Amino acid sequence: MSDVKLEDIVSLAKRRGFIYQGSEVYGGLSGTWDYGPLGVALKRNIMNLWWKMFVEDRDDMYGVDAAILMNQKVWQASGHVDTFTDPLIACLSCGSRYRADHLIKDNLDKAWDYRNELGELDEVIDAKLITATPDDPKDIIITEYLGEDAQLDVVDFLNEKVSCSKCGQKSWSEPKQFNMMFKTNVGPVADESSISYLRPETAQGIFTNYKNVVDSFYPDLPFGIAQQGKAFRNEISPRDFVFRSREFEQMEIEYFVAPDKWQESFEHWVAKCKEWFKALGLPADSVHELEVPEDDRAHYSKRTIDFEFDYPIGREELMGLAYRTDFDLANIQRESGKSMEYAIKGTNEKFVPHVIEPSFGVERALMAVLVSAYREDEQNGEKRVFLALPEHLAPVKYAVSPLLKNKPELVEKAREVYAALKKKQGNVMWDDNGNIGKRYRRQDEIGTPYCVVIDFDTLEDDTVTIRDRDTTEQQRVGIKDLI
Ligand code: GAP
Repeated sequence: MSDVKLEDIVSLAKRRGFIYQGSEVYGGLSGTWDYGPLGVALKRNIMNLWWKMFVEDRDDMYGVDAAILMNQKVWQASGHVDTFTDPLIACLSCGSRYRADHLIKDNLDKAWDYRNELGELDEVIDAKLITATPDDPKDIIITEYLGEDAQLDVVDFLNEKVSCSKCGQKSWSEPKQFNMMFKTNVGPVADESSISYLRPETAQGIFTNYKNVVDSFYPDLPFGIAQQGKAFRNEISPRDFVFRSREFEQMEIEYFVAPDKWQESFEHWVAKCKEWFKALGLPADSVHELEVPEDDRAHYSKRTIDFEFDYPIGREELMGLAYRTDFDLANIQRESGKSMEYAIKGTNEKFVPHVIEPSFGVERALMAVLVSAYREDEQNGEKRVFLALPEHLAPVKYAVSPLLKNKPELVEKAREVYAALKKKQGNVMWDDNGNIGKRYRRQDEIGTPYCVVIDFDTLEDDTVTIRDRDTTEQQRVGIKDLI
């Protein structure tokens, strides 16, 4: 787990204009977040970096931007209508609703002790422990209560040991499967035929355009189609800041391969994901690979690696890499009656390609970037908070200030430097608010790598002071060199 506290990240994000609670002025809307000026800049930098690394810099990648609303058949064929569910449990006393697996996870020690008290530590648990190798063996308990072959009655345990965090009662409903897709109707008539969903993953907009891209571009296998965009999930209990939201952003690649080549492509993408974490500035030792056991994999996956990050809330999923086989294209072929086969050039050998899917969540990446960059130190006996963001991600790269804002000659010169630097760099901020110490503190907190100050010497020799965020060291450089 990271040493950084979640409340420090949340409070900095709000104070400095990165992220606000959605609809805050009306009391908020749970699971939604609004990005402020710096948050949107940081998010765009992350998304643009991804697009550059995985689309623009590669010859085998094609970008798409599909509609969020899709024909309901997409979600029937993909299995989401039937299986995109989480176990929902309700407090019978006050009606509060919880995700059953989270409720057990939050009370793992009690669940383990209860299991012991029952005197039922049997071979099932031992056998599962050997194959599943979870970080905490107690995680097995969740499968025992809620897995397909659940061994224990979750309601008995909860009624005995776990109180509702809202009303304090121990009275629980049976868990039931809750579909997480947001349902809506398209057009003025609300009937079965007009049902649509806000997409819960961007992936299906890629699969449904696979044939279009093949027909337009005739790419050689392997090739990928990439998409960035909003995804929506009606999470039972959104929590932990933007980590589990109801509206979030995904960056997904479906990489189409010959069926017998999936393993080498999978390894290729493991390596690429690691390059991505490095580009985000995440320390290598805070990212972990979890080989997801069969029981816990999504219905379409034959192999999944979750890359987990040491967040302040514990080690949790940052992104996933899955071998989706031909599950999606074969479903589309069956349900649409249209061939999804790929014909190898030259031999004309035909098959439905298999798919490797690296699926990146923007919010979780952004949260990992903030956690990795968050620092506290002491300067001149005072606590300082700063974000050591990689330069290419920082929302503001240079802040330009006149030493004194009531000296027109300094302001005029500073405006000149600001305009020239902005023309060259784009993400440059004018900052003349408060004294110079306050400006430095503010810029440190938003992760600005360089503060440029125009003073009386500048008027004489055309040099400025440039201060480094991480070391706080100041240097004198010529304006020409700076620009
Ligand atoms: N197409 C595959 C797919 O959607 P997923 O593991 O369900 O797989 C992929 O989601 C990524 O999307 C996750 O690793 C995570 O980064 C992000 N994600 C999923 N649910 C999220 C939520 N409720 N809030 C924020 N990010 C989420």
